[in-house]
Amino acid sequence: MSLHLAVLLSGRGSNYAAIDQAIEKGELDAQIVAVISNRSDAPALEYAAGRGHAVWAFPHQDYSSREEHEARITEVLESIEPDYICLAGYMRRLSESFVSRWSMRMLNIHPSLLPAFPGVDAQRQALEYGVRYTGCTVHFVDEGVDTGPIIVQRVVPVLPDDDLPALSARILAEEHRAYVDALKLLAGASIRLEGRRVIVDS
Ligand code: GRF
Repeated sequence: MSLHLAVLLSGRGSNYAAIDQAIEKGELDAQIVAVISNRSDAPALEYAAGRGHAVWAFPHQDYSSREEHEARITEVLESIEPDYICLAGYMRRLSESFVSRWSMRMLNIHPSLLPAFPGVDAQRQALEYGVRYTGCTVHFVDEGVDTGPIIVQRVVPVLPDDDLPALSARILAEEHRAYVDALKLLAGASIRLEGRRVIVDS
């Protein structure tokens, strides 16, 4: 069964492009049915146009409240009913009601091995803490900040002479693999939770 995916993003969109390229190569059986951005100048929108994906840009500053903005996004999502919503660099906090509406159907990627270094600047936090390994995590989105059930993680070493750009680039390369791996795991499988653990019955 081909997965129908919606992507929510705000910027560069390299994770979105990685998912799209895995689909193109036949590595992932999925279709990107919607790309939704809260910024009309997101560089990813150019890529989306080039790929002929259905795009919606809803600049959040055009709406009087978070609820109104999210209601517009929900309207699009409900008209499409994707199997999963992939947050891929979506830089806006989501309300609890939006998160619960899409419970266990919304994924996020975070550039650390959660639960270490949640929130912003995860790569900087790892560098400053002095960990020898960090990585990335694909998880379901729950009401907390980067606290949802974990689907896939990939480990990245921190090298002695790393600076922030070098470490961030090494993590990003693994993010691209991790997001595709997570979606491959979910494709055609039924998912349940045992406590916090994601159990995949294929
Ligand atoms: C990635 O580092 C991701 O982990 C974080 O935001 C960044 C998005 O990058 N949530 P991109 O827009 O996918 O290139």
